[in-house]
Amino acid sequence: MVKKRTCVFISGRGSNLHNLILHSRNNSFPVRINLVICNNSNAYGINFAKKHKIPYVFINTKIKNFENKILFHLKEHKISFICLAGYMKIISDTFIKNFRGKIINIHPSLLPKFKGLNTFSRMLKNKEKVAGCTVHYVNKKLDDGKIIIKKNFLINDKDDELSLKNKTQKLEYKAFPEAIIKIFRNT
Ligand code: GRF
Repeated sequence: MVKKRTCVFISGRGSNLHNLILHSRNNSFPVRINLVICNNSNAYGINFAKKHKIPYVFINTKIKNFENKILFHLKEHKISFICLAGYMKIISDTFIKNFRGKIINIHPSLLPKFKGLNTFSRMLKNKEKVAGCTVHYVNKKLDDGKIIIKKNFLINDKDDELSLKNKTQKLEYKAFPEAIIKIFRNT
C-alpha cells in the first residue's frame, strides 16, 4: 500500500500527533506523517516530531501571507492529506480550495453541538448527559464540515472540566486513526 503523505498541524500538547505517529508505524495504516506544521514555538508537541525525526516547520500565523508559506512547505514535502490536531487557527477558504476534501479536524464535542472553544465548561453549564469527540472534514465554517466519526461517553455527577477533557482525549486517540482508516478504506 502506498501511504498518503500527510502533514499534521498543531499548536499545543500534540498528544493526538503522537498517537497518529505511533499508528502510522503500522504497515497497514494508510498514512505516513511526513511533516508537522506548528504555529506556537512553545508547543510541547513539537518534541514528538523531533523524537521521531519527522520534519517540522514553525509558522508565525501573525504575519501576512503565512498560509502561502505553509502551502510552500506542503508542496515541498508532496503532502496530499492534512490532519488538524489542536491547531488553534482558522483555515482560510483559499487554503481549503488547495486541499478540498483533504483536510480533517478533531473536535472535543459531539458536533454540531459545542462548536468553538471551551467545550467542556459549556457542556457542564448546559447539564449535558453525553460528551465525546468528532472527526470531520474541514470547510470554511468553524467545526462544520461533513462528519466522519463520532465517539461518545456518559457524563456522570462527579465529572468536571478536567475529567471530561481526559475522557474525551482517550476517545480521540481511537477516533482519529479510525476516521483515517475509514477515509482510505476503499482506495
Ligand atoms: C484535542 O482535544 C482536540 O480535540 C482539540 O484540541 C485538542 C488537542 O490536543 N482540537 P493535543 O494537542 O492533541 O493533545
